[in-house]
Amino acid sequence: MRESTLTFGRYEALFHIASGGMAEVFAARLRGPHGFEKLVAVKRLLPDLNDEQFITMFMDEARLAAHISSPHVVQTMELGRAADDGALYIVMELVVGITLYDLSVNIFNSKTGRSPIPLVAEVCAQAARGLDDAHNATTRTGQPLQVVHRDVSPQNILVGADGRVRVTDFGIARAVSRSTQTQVGQLKGKVAYLSPEQAYGKNLDRRTDVFALGIVTWEALTGRSLFNTGDAIETVERVRTMRIPAPHELRMDVPKELSKIVMWALERDPNARCPSAARYARALREAVPVRPSARKISEFVRDHGGEALKKMETRIRAAGESSSVLKRTTTGSRIVPDAAPEPTDSRMLPLSVQSKEQAKHAKAEARRKLKQRDLSTKLVGEEQAEASLGQAPAPSQREAQVSAGILALGVLAWIGAAVLAYYVLF
Ligand SMILES: Nc1ncnc2c1ncn2[C@@H]1O[C@H](COP(=O)(O)OP(=O)(O)O)[C@@H](O)[C@H]1O
Ligand SMILES: [Mg+2]
Repeated sequence: MRESTLTFGRYEALFHIASGGMAEVFAARLRGPHGFEKLVAVKRLLPDLNDEQFITMFMDEARLAAHISSPHVVQTMELGRAADDGALYIVMELVVGITLYDLSVNIFNSKTGRSPIPLVAEVCAQAARGLDDAHNATTRTGQPLQVVHRDVSPQNILVGADGRVRVTDFGIARAVSRSTQTQVGQLKGKVAYLSPEQAYGKNLDRRTDVFALGIVTWEALTGRSLFNTGDAIETVERVRTMRIPAPHELRMDVPKELSKIVMWALERDPNARCPSAARYARALREAVPVRPSARKISEFVRDHGGEALKKMETRIRAAGESSSVLKRTTTGSRIVPDAAPEPTDSRMLPLSVQSKEQAKHAKAEARRKLKQRDLSTKLVGEEQAEASLGQAPAPSQREAQVSAGILALGVLAWIGAAVLAYYVLF
């Protein structure tokens, strides 16, 4: 089988970073004259999801994100379409770092088992600054876009090895300009990070993101899930009614002042809640006397970035010394890594070995995840068992799921390799 470099317009793919429900993210490189190089991240819609709904959502994400300019929001540079298979992709600034989710898991599994309080406050303050810049984004002619992110979660907050925090994933963000508008009464976002107004299907504004960031802060301080039980119905019910314990009730060394600020963000009544993300950032910084510098955050990320960050840095160094690492077959856009494949899911198998059954399964899985991100109140009732699969569980539970997943995906990859060998040999 002939192979060529996997490219996205002017960018050549270097390595795979992550796959989500609708997209996969790669590190890629732009080469120019006289050895000029720039590394970027490219997010592309999964090739199976080439129907209108997904395409519109993806294009909206790119258009909206392009209007946001902030040191604390991942910068979006381009929306492109692959020349050969027409797949859409978004070119973004590459963040060498780790998600707040992975960082928290690493911290709570470490010897100390406790997150440094000033670090949590500063990371959340920077995320709040990014959200505030998004909330205040305007069109080029100054019309307010009234952006609401709606999917604030630890997985969508990237902590850079450069010590700077960025918010990402405006995949379901709402703005006045957006083509795909949501009806009142629809829920969007991961249920574990819903605001009460989302849980009741009411009108939303920027304060909904403040509530979600309050949950993120609460969890990063205590190391526990606030509302999430792994069951969507139960989780939504907890968002609506559960008494919210103050962080210092679970962790005594959290200063009361900081605890109070987090609880301000977690006020169920939006009128009683901290009114803006900028105000939340300021309050967090005031509540913690010592603010860690970018250098301190950077050191911390390096110490707790774990294998994933080390691997990313090694690959970036290697990219400086070699040509592209990812290849595509000449017959399609599927990726055939030339190194031994890691355990991966069926979508990453070369096209020739992905059976119709597997393709159907991948599509159904993506649809399930989309529903999970876009749960109407009715769907919550109908899909209780199904939806609970997509939650962000407590780290230990999640780890068990991840190990089982890796095992299953490893088996899938082996089956794929065997089928490929069969095709090549016979
Ligand atoms: N610009 C980036 N630089 C580095 N990693 C990124 C970048 N954007 C996304 N990622 C990684 O890819 C994951 C999925 O990206 P995201 O935009 O959140 O897509 P999804 O809609 O699938 O959740 C993120 O959680 C993060 O780990
Ligand atoms: Mg995401």
